[in-house]
Parts: sequence; structure tokens; C-alpha cells
Amino acid sequence: MSAKDVLILAIESSCDETAASVVKNGRTILSNIISSQIALHTLYGGVVPEIASRKHIEKINQVVEEALTEADVTLEDLDAVGVTYGPGLVGALLVGVAEAKAISYAKKLPLIGVHHIEGHVSANYIEHPDLKPPFMCLIVSGGHTHLVIVKDYGEFEILGRTRDDAAGEAFDKVARAIGLGYPGGPKIDKVSKEGNPNAIVFPKAKLEDPYDFSFSGVKSAVLNHINRCKMQGEEICEADIAASFQKAVVDTLVEKAVKAAKEHHMDKLAIAGGVASNSALRQAMKEACEREHIRFYYPSPIFCTDNAAMIGVAAYYEYKKGVRHGWDLNAVPNLKLGER
Ligand code: KG4
Ligand code: ZN
Repeated sequence: MSAKDVLILAIESSCDETAASVVKNGRTILSNIISSQIALHTLYGGVVPEIASRKHIEKINQVVEEALTEADVTLEDLDAVGVTYGPGLVGALLVGVAEAKAISYAKKLPLIGVHHIEGHVSANYIEHPDLKPPFMCLIVSGGHTHLVIVKDYGEFEILGRTRDDAAGEAFDKVARAIGLGYPGGPKIDKVSKEGNPNAIVFPKAKLEDPYDFSFSGVKSAVLNHINRCKMQGEEICEADIAASFQKAVVDTLVEKAVKAAKEHHMDKLAIAGGVASNSALRQAMKEACEREHIRFYYPSPIFCTDNAAMIGVAAYYEYKKGVRHGWDLNAVPNLKLGER
């Protein structure tokens, strides 16, 4: 480690993962510790906010210690502390924000609040040293669906967003309806591999704004299909339903993202967020980008779903810009993209 290296400890606790990471110079991940609560929330079929907050409190110190140990650094080596302060579950966010404030206050380190979605976008920088703004980015997570131009580090122009459900939310709801359980996305991804994506044609929403999304229609169509089959005594093929639903969502995402890239003369397109780990989306986007001579970027699955490494990367670029937060930093559950 040279004296000029910038070491950031990052913390993420916006939903059901307690995570900490040490990131060097914005692009090198020295550690990436994630304590997932998925098994706990599976009992209830989804994330229970109160349980999430309590678990974060139990785990946060241990996760931070592990991140430092694995990176082979101490608090004395750090240059700053970065933390997700929104959007997310307020009680969950507060645990990370309080932890980050305590460490930065005790060690007199700059405190940098990070937007969770900026973190997701920044996950693309980890494994692609050549990737620099500007580029087009499709953000598809459990809570968000955004199509944005990343104009500069942390600078976004929002072209479109979902009008109702987020892409990941639709995956989770459909998975529940066909009895696959929580979390739905990875389960639909897996079972779809045994299904026929052309078995059922589910509708795609037609919206006035070409870059907006709507997934509640396709979700209702799946529910109607299941009810109709049940009423008519027909057997339900879970794999076919999953594969056909996934195709409807993936086709829409690919079509809009590639159209946006072409219309805005962007030769680089990245995907981010939990749904970006979907194998059908990655494959379809790769093929479409190849056809259109657009360079396609995507993070490894571990950096797509919630993690603190991506927050450390985003924090580094905010740090370089001189962004610093005070001790009054608070959790902002509905923080808008681009707000500081
Ligand atoms: O980004 P993320 O970890 O948390 C939020 O910020 O929301 O995204 C979680 C979402 C969940 O809805 C989950 O079902 C979905 O990402 N997801 C997937 C896959 N892996 C996770 N959706 C489709 N296919 C996957 N392989
Ligand atoms: Zn997320």
C-alpha cells in the first residue's frame, strides 16, 4: 500500500444484507463481507423491516471487523467512511448510518453518505477498469427500475423509470404466485432453464413515454393465467410460466435500454442491481449489444445484489469530488437519485 492510496471503509444495510467492505483507490476490493438475512425472511415470504433492523444491529460490528481483518487493515489506515443513507428501509439504513458516524467520529475520518442506486451503478467499475462515464445504464433491483445516462461519476440524467412495480418486485411476486417462494428472482431464473419461454405470450406494456416501464400488467396476466388453468382443471407448468414471464420482462428491458443507447449515441451500456444477475437478461442484452456494436458491461452476480463494495466505489468518487457529510447525516428512505 502506498502513502497516496485512498482506503475507504464502506457500509451497506439498506434492506436485508448487512455488508462492509474495504476499497482501495475506488476500484480494488480488498474485502467484501455480506451477512445475508434471506433465510430468516424466507419464513415470512418477504423482508420484515423490524426483523431486518434488529439483525443489522446484531451483525454490524462483526461484519465491519471481518471486512477490516480480511483487507488486512486497521481503522488507523482508513481515509474515509462511506455508507448508504438511502433509499431503503429507514430502520435498516439507520443501523449502517449510526455505525459509520461512530467510526468516522472516533477516528476523525471524513463521512460520505452514498445513494444506494449510485452504488449499484458503481458496481460496474469494479471489474471493468476501462469503464468510465458517459454510458447508458439500466438499473433493475427489487425496489427500482431506472434507465439513466451516467454523465459523470455520480451524475445521472434519468430517461425513464417504472410507473408501478420494480422489475425485481415483479419477479418476487410472480415467484410467490407460482409457489417458488422468496427470493423470487433467482428461483425464476433457475426454473426457467427447464421451461419454454414461448409457451405463453404475456403482454408487454405500451407506454406513452418510450423509456418508462410498467410491470404490474404482466404480473396480473400471470396471475390470471394461473387462475384460469386452475378453474379449467388444467395442470400448471411452473417452468413454462416462469420462462414466459421472464422472457416478457427481459425483452422489454433489452428493447428499451438498447433503443435508449442508440438514440443517445452511447456506445457503452451497463446493467446494475439484483435483477442484473439474471442469466436470461445478461444473455439477451449481450446479443442485442453485439448486433448494435454497443459495448456491454455487467457486474459479477455477487456485485449485482446488495453489497458494500459497490458503496465503497461510489464513495471514492464522491470523496474525490470533495463531498463530505456532517454528523447530522440521517437515513433518507425515499432519497431521489441525484440528490445529495
Ligand atoms: O439490488 P437488490 O439486491 O436489492 C435492492 O436494492 O432492491 O435486488 C434484489 C432483487 C430481488 O427482487 C431479487 O428477486 C432480484 O433482485 N434478483 C433477481 C435475480 N437475483 C436477484 N431477479 C432475477 N433474476 C435473478 N437471478
Ligand atoms: Zn440494492
